[in-house]
Amino acid sequence: MFKIKLPITAVMLGAGRRGLQAYGEYALKNKKKLKFIAVAEPIKTRCEKFAKLHKIPSNRCYKSWEDLLLEEKLADVAFVCTQDQMHTKPTLLALEKGYHVLLEKPMAHRLEDCIKIVKKVEETGRVLGVSHVLRYTDFFSTVYEIARKGLLGDIVNISHRENVMWYHYAHSFIRGPWSNVEKSSPMILAKCCHDFDLLFHLVGSLPKKVSSFGSLMHFKPENAPKGAPEYCLEGCPAKDKCLYYAPRIYIDIIPQIQLMEKSDNRFLKILGKLRKNYVKFLKYISKFVTPLKELRYYRDFPIYYLYTGQKEDYTDEAKLKILKNSQYGKCVYRCNNDVVDHQVVNIEFENGVTANLTMHGFSEQEGRTLRIDGTKATLIGEFHISGEKIILYDHFTGSEKLVHRKKLTRESGEHGVGNFELVDAYIESLINKEKTQPLTNARETVESHLMAFAADESRLKGIVVDMEKFRERAEQI
Ligand SMILES: NC(=O)c1ccc[n+]([C@@H]2O[C@H](COP(=O)([O-])OP(=O)(O)OC[C@H]3O[C@@H](n4cnc5c(N)ncnc54)[C@H](O)[C@@H]3O)[C@@H](O)[C@H]2O)c1
Repeated sequence: MFKIKLPITAVMLGAGRRGLQAYGEYALKNKKKLKFIAVAEPIKTRCEKFAKLHKIPSNRCYKSWEDLLLEEKLADVAFVCTQDQMHTKPTLLALEKGYHVLLEKPMAHRLEDCIKIVKKVEETGRVLGVSHVLRYTDFFSTVYEIARKGLLGDIVNISHRENVMWYHYAHSFIRGPWSNVEKSSPMILAKCCHDFDLLFHLVGSLPKKVSSFGSLMHFKPENAPKGAPEYCLEGCPAKDKCLYYAPRIYIDIIPQIQLMEKSDNRFLKILGKLRKNYVKFLKYISKFVTPLKELRYYRDFPIYYLYTGQKEDYTDEAKLKILKNSQYGKCVYRCNNDVVDHQVVNIEFENGVTANLTMHGFSEQEGRTLRIDGTKATLIGEFHISGEKIILYDHFTGSEKLVHRKKLTRESGEHGVGNFELVDAYIESLINKEKTQPLTNARETVESHLMAFAADESRLKGIVVDMEKFRERAEQI
């Protein structure tokens, strides 16, 4: 039994986008449940911003997780929100120091490190939750409930797609942090560990066999427009035609405008038009109507990543300056990226269910689509940022029922909220009288991560992976 009381105290390791926006925001809105009392972050502006928001004194601000974890245990929980390749060491050390850990997904970028983490959790008896936020969304909770109540009968086959929008793929997997397998994670792990977690949870059985195909097909130097320089702003001859011309994405925010235009919310459609066609007028009226400033000087994903320490100036001029020599201003065909841009995975589970997962970076809109065929009914779901819908088709009656619908709202984040629900569930598992592990715990996560690692082994070696042997091999690491 743990002696933990509310508010839970916590240290933040890595006050980047997730640290600041997902968990930092949770603590600010749930002061009775969570309080950050120390922060470790090498980027001074980020560290100061986090400290100011959470009223953390300067002697509890550290330049790195290494420095913070040199201290005796300061709080109940360590939030590990550093990049993928920097999850293992702080997690192992935090567990050893006596912290419970809320760890960002993926658990680690290498299978052997995932296993080390699980073993350390089991050895220390701490509570470790992995941030598989999708499980906690209304959409996937509804899908799960429908299956649990037996409305689908026995699930026979699942077809699941992770459609990554073209600009998101370019931003994160070509120009950004997840472009290189050695430096970060295989894309099937980085992007789809959420999807494997969902499939595993839904099917409720261990995977038996996995096979996969995929490659980096398009984003290679030979596909660059003729005469394209290394940086878009070095006079690229294709600037008016290239989908990926950096100012189009980071200054004109075309993807966000397209999202607003596709939304079924009329007000957002109007705002999209305003941002696209009347930007000068918008600049003028945003002086008087403060919320419009957010639209004129949009600063969320992916713009946030342009700023790594410099003054957060969101004017077009400042962004142009950054794009001239930032990785985000580079030609997408000349980025030394090596992660796949499309991949398919086939899974057979031990209970006989088959599933296939398709992931690609060429979608017209961001989101997952899902089809589950069962002995009694078929479920078809769309989980897009621009809106969500689940339809259930009953085989016996022939009826069709809309069981879930959500429109785009200002709060619709990249994962349709779920962050706050995940932290709530994690805190619940800490204060619960029983010693429990959260829903998305270390052991379960490793099982779903195994499918991603197995998929890459299959893709690279051209084999069907026997999961029992793969699991045994992993346990021996
Ligand atoms: N759960 C989800 O749905 C979800 C969504 C997006 C990203 N992620 C994951 O969250 C993690 C963080 O992603 P992000 O987008 O916030 O990245 P980010 O780059 O914005 O944040 C990482 C932060 O870690 C800091 N850092 C670097 N070295 C450090 C050190 N030695 N000590 C302390 N901090 C250090 C960086 O300066 C940076 O601010 C990644 O693993 C990513 O895959 C999860």
